[in-house]
Amino acid sequence: MKFHSVLAGASAIGLAFAADSSSCSFSSTTITAATGVEQLNACPTIAGDIEVTGDQLGNVDLSSVEEISGNIKLFNSSSVTAINLNQLGKISGSLSITALTQLFSVDLSSLDEVETLSLVSLPSFATLNINKGISKASSIELSDTALSTLNGFTTTFNTIGSLNVNNNKNISTIDLSNLNTVSQGLILSFNNDNCTVDISNLNWASNLTIQDVSEINASNLTSVNGTFNIAYNTFKEVEFDNLKEVGGAFQFYANDDVNDIAFDKLETIGGEFRLFNNTDLQDMNSTFPKLSKVKGAVNVQGVFGNFTLPDLSEVNGDFTVITTDEDFSCDDFDNLHSKSSIEGHNYTCSAPTKSSSQSGSKTGSGSGSKSTGSGSSDSSSSSGSSSSSGKKSEGNNLRASYIGVLFTVIGGIFVITL
Ligand SMILES: *[C@@H]1O[C@H](CO)[C@@H](O)[C@H](O)[C@H]1NC(C)=O
Ligand SMILES: *[C@@H]1O[C@H](CO)[C@@H](O)[C@H](O)[C@H]1NC(C)=O
Ligand SMILES: *[C@@H]1O[C@H](CO)[C@@H](O)[C@H](O)[C@H]1NC(C)=O
Ligand SMILES: *[C@@H]1O[C@H](CO)[C@@H](O)[C@H](O)[C@H]1NC(C)=O
Ligand SMILES: *[C@@H]1O[C@H](CO)[C@@H](O)[C@H](O)[C@H]1NC(C)=O
Ligand SMILES: *[C@@H]1O[C@H](CO)[C@@H](O)[C@H](O)[C@H]1NC(C)=O
Ligand SMILES: *[C@@H]1O[C@H](CO)[C@@H](O)[C@H](O)[C@H]1NC(C)=O
Ligand SMILES: *[C@@H]1O[C@H](CO)[C@@H](O)[C@H](O)[C@H]1NC(C)=O
Ligand SMILES: *[C@@H]1O[C@H](CO)[C@@H](O)[C@H](O)[C@H]1NC(C)=O
Ligand SMILES: *[C@@H]1O[C@H](CO)[C@@H](O)[C@H](O)[C@H]1NC(C)=O
Ligand SMILES: *[C@@H]1O[C@H](CO)[C@@H](O)[C@H](O)[C@H]1NC(C)=O
Repeated sequence: MKFHSVLAGASAIGLAFAADSSSCSFSSTTITAATGVEQLNACPTIAGDIEVTGDQLGNVDLSSVEEISGNIKLFNSSSVTAINLNQLGKISGSLSITALTQLFSVDLSSLDEVETLSLVSLPSFATLNINKGISKASSIELSDTALSTLNGFTTTFNTIGSLNVNNNKNISTIDLSNLNTVSQGLILSFNNDNCTVDISNLNWASNLTIQDVSEINASNLTSVNGTFNIAYNTFKEVEFDNLKEVGGAFQFYANDDVNDIAFDKLETIGGEFRLFNNTDLQDMNSTFPKLSKVKGAVNVQGVFGNFTLPDLSEVNGDFTVITTDEDFSCDDFDNLHSKSSIEGHNYTCSAPTKSSSQSGSKTGSGSGSKSTGSGSSDSSSSSGSSSSSGKKSEGNNLRASYIGVLFTVIGGIFVITL
């Protein structure tokens, strides 16, 4: 009905609507009934924005449509079960399929070029025909679907603006081995818990987020220009053995099983360096052997018995290293601090004091070493323990858990909107 009136209106104001219906143009139309779908399907070439929505639609058969100059959005229906766009080769704008609870199949078997493709909140969607493979897209988002493979999305191009694959619980393999550069962001988050990721050809990405992954090969990654987040993963070991630079913040947290990490070539972090809540990460002796510059703050907290940054020569923000392992010695960092390599206003390095006897309680023991100041050489010795150090650690812990909450919320946003 609405379609009728919009087309009538379009004709009335002189927009082209060819009599033979081989091409149709309008500024926008909203389709809520089967007749509207039929009328639209009489147009192989369409110029205009299309919305398809509502609970009066079943199969959406648009199998005669070949090209759309504009955007098409199919959304919010609990009755649409299938979408057939099997002749559609090119969309100048976006193709968005969102919030269709009963949708189980989409046929895009001719799709070659699309600006933005979003398949979001489609809990029954398990079958996608995308035979040819998309050769050009600037942004693809695949979130909360029942798909089990990414085949067709990602095999044919080697660069993309942004790719966001999250909360697809049946995707356990993400093979992006052709991908060479990501100019905006790559997010691979909360798919199957056993998800393995191959980005072995990826050279740089602007922003990179890796979450809930069980294995990753990023052997060619040399640069993350913006933010790099690695969190909630299930891998035991991970290496980024060619990564030289993170341009923004680098965060590595809540990777509960990891006990062996290696960032052998990482030299520079342009933002903050945060590492926390990795509950099994005890040995960090040679994890960042080349790290020399951190332009933001350093905040590393955990259960590690050793952690060295042998090449560190510059930290511009606050510096916090806190461990619960009494074997840890702050001597190296204290030395760097006295040499003014760590410039930030607040310097804290702390570990529990070694208990002298077996009966000695660890709880309540002060910091092994702590100092606050800027460029001063008043670092306390490793035996020093001030009464304020307990408070200090508490404060930092509070800060860490506040950050924790923040990240959890961000995780929630991923679930809902990304
Ligand atoms: C989705 O559709 C339902 C019923 O058709 C309607 O009540 C609701 O407002 C719609 N939601 C959105 C976000 O459009
Ligand atoms: C998705 O995974 C669940 C549980 O592993 C399984 O029961 C279901 O059949 C899978 N769905 C598809 C479409 O593969
Ligand atoms: C990287 O992400 C930040 C926000 O986290 C955003 O402002 C920036 O534009 C992204 N970089 C690119 C190149 O998209
Ligand atoms: C992941 O793999 C483990 C062991 O192979 C298995 O026990 C577990 O059920 C798997 N989890 C999922 C979500 O498939
Ligand atoms: C990562 O992938 C590259 C290219 O396929 C391969 O040569 C290398 O052995 C892989 N590394 C690991 C640790 O599997
Ligand atoms: C890694 O990058 C180099 C060039 O930077 C290239 O020669 C090599 O083939 C790439 N390796 C993989 C596994 O992609
Ligand atoms: C990201 O860094 C790489 C390597 O330094 C560089 O070649 C690329 O142009 C940078 N990308 C952006 C968007 O700045
Ligand atoms: C511990 O780290 C230091 C400094 O990086 C290095 O010299 C030493 O060889 C490492 N020890 C072991 C056992 O890896
Ligand atoms: C580092 O500390 C861990 C935990 O205390 C310990 O198991 C490991 O042997 C230490 N490694 C080195 C090289 O000292
Ligand atoms: C240093 O820490 C103190 C207390 O912990 C805080 O009040 C102050 O703002 C911090 N300074 C900077 C520059 O962050
Ligand atoms: C870090 O661990 C603390 C204590 O277990 C927890 O409360 C917090 O939510 C965790 N933060 C993140 C980001 O996982």
